[in-house]
Amino acid sequence: MTLSYDPLQVLMEEHQVFLARVESFRETWRQTTKLSPAPLALAGEAAQFAVFLARDVDEFHAAKEERALFPVLERRLSAEESSLGHMRDDHESLRALQRSMGKMSSQLDADPGAPEPVRRIARIAESIETLLSQHVIKEDFVLFPMAQDVLSRRDVLEVARRCQGIEQAYRERYGVNPGLLLTAPEALHSPLTAPL
Ligand SMILES: [Fe+2]
Ligand SMILES: [Fe+2]
Repeated sequence: MTLSYDPLQVLMEEHQVFLARVESFRETWRQTTKLSPAPLALAGEAAQFAVFLARDVDEFHAAKEERALFPVLERRLSAEESSLGHMRDDHESLRALQRSMGKMSSQLDADPGAPEPVRRIARIAESIETLLSQHVIKEDFVLFPMAQDVLSRRDVLEVARRCQGIEQAYRERYGVNPGLLLTAPEALHSPLTAPL
């Protein structure tokens, strides 16, 4: 582990990447679905987005929070103080939306002209954007500053070590870095096998 690795800073940087990716998906979807007939590539676009949610947001990022940061934080704060239950609930809600996104993209793939999945994907993406942006505000402005106050240097080193272990496992599993995943062509065709 390098001492220069600041786990909270890394998580906050990932938040910004995620928000930009969600916004860009929504904008692409808005523009593309205006076209008539809707392009056949739409199902692939939605499938890519579902993979991003399953892997980068959940399997990579949320795992670092749930398996590295939260358990260490729980030693220092009571459940009421930390609101970690709410953070975990948000993660569960995001997972449910991600599964709906995957299901709808499969429906669209099976019937490329169907208007209902196109509309539902737009609504799911809107819910994801709302939930994710509110969740990021809670983490960036409440939870992480609180963590900075209460965690000792040794605690932070432990969180960093656990986070780096999760990152390494992710790289070994997929052979890519998060964020670069969607440029890997095989990611477009692989099933959504990320554990939830
Ligand atoms: Fe986060
Ligand atoms: Fe989170």
